[in-house]
Amino acid sequence: MVAEPASQNIPAHVAIIMDGNGRWAAHQGKPRSYGHQAGSDALKRTIEAAAKLGIGMVTVFAFSSENWRRPRSEVKHLLELFLKALSEDLRELDDNGVCISFIGDRSAFNRAIRDGMSRAEARTANNQRLLLNVAVNYGGRADITDAARRLAEQVARGERKADSITETELDAHLGTAGLPPPDLLIRTGGEQRLSNFLLWQAAYAELHFSDALWPDFGAEHLARAVDDYSRRQRRFGGLDQVGNA
Ligand code: FPP
Repeated sequence: MVAEPASQNIPAHVAIIMDGNGRWAAHQGKPRSYGHQAGSDALKRTIEAAAKLGIGMVTVFAFSSENWRRPRSEVKHLLELFLKALSEDLRELDDNGVCISFIGDRSAFNRAIRDGMSRAEARTANNQRLLLNVAVNYGGRADITDAARRLAEQVARGERKADSITETELDAHLGTAGLPPPDLLIRTGGEQRLSNFLLWQAAYAELHFSDALWPDFGAEHLARAVDDYSRRQRRFGGLDQVGNA
């Protein structure tokens, strides 16, 4: 049975580090690719569960800029899985009102994947039930560095003054420009670190670490994370209502 969240305090934006596919597969004596396929199914389940809970935005870490270091065969499989998801799963996501958008440096991907991403974005652009941001070839430090470089270039060209560079301006030059920051960041797989995901954007996100391996994650785990979130006091560096820091 799916646990009901404690209150109506539903996070508007949930970020997820989907970890544990490889271990899940190993536990069953299967290759890592089997875990990634099951991870893709878990993602579909979780998106639908999020929409049903009233979560408007989900951002997932699908492929980090460091994932290229994995064995070639695993990278190839992951890219094939993305391509498959971009064709076979697209209709279902579209029918379910999911708007898909990608963040990260997509120039490193082959033409078929880049075209698939653009097609998915165009086809789902008007959907409003849930916005799914998929981070591919993404790294938080690179995101901040690229934004800083572009602002520095604007200063060098005389288009802006250095003192016009504020947090708001830097934020507007990130890959996530225009998106609200995540309220809740979930990491599955038992590790408790950010692994270079949304470093700037998650500054005030509530963190929820789940021991579940990503392919096992689903509606019940998500409800537990939202329940955990709804009990937290968010102070954003200020004080709560009774004056506690
Ligand atoms: C981490 O598990 C997961 C990844 C590196 C890839 C995430 C990809 C998916 C969930 C596949 C589907 C995604 C889309 C967008 C179709 P791991 O391999 O690091 O697991 P381990 O820590 O147990 O080795």
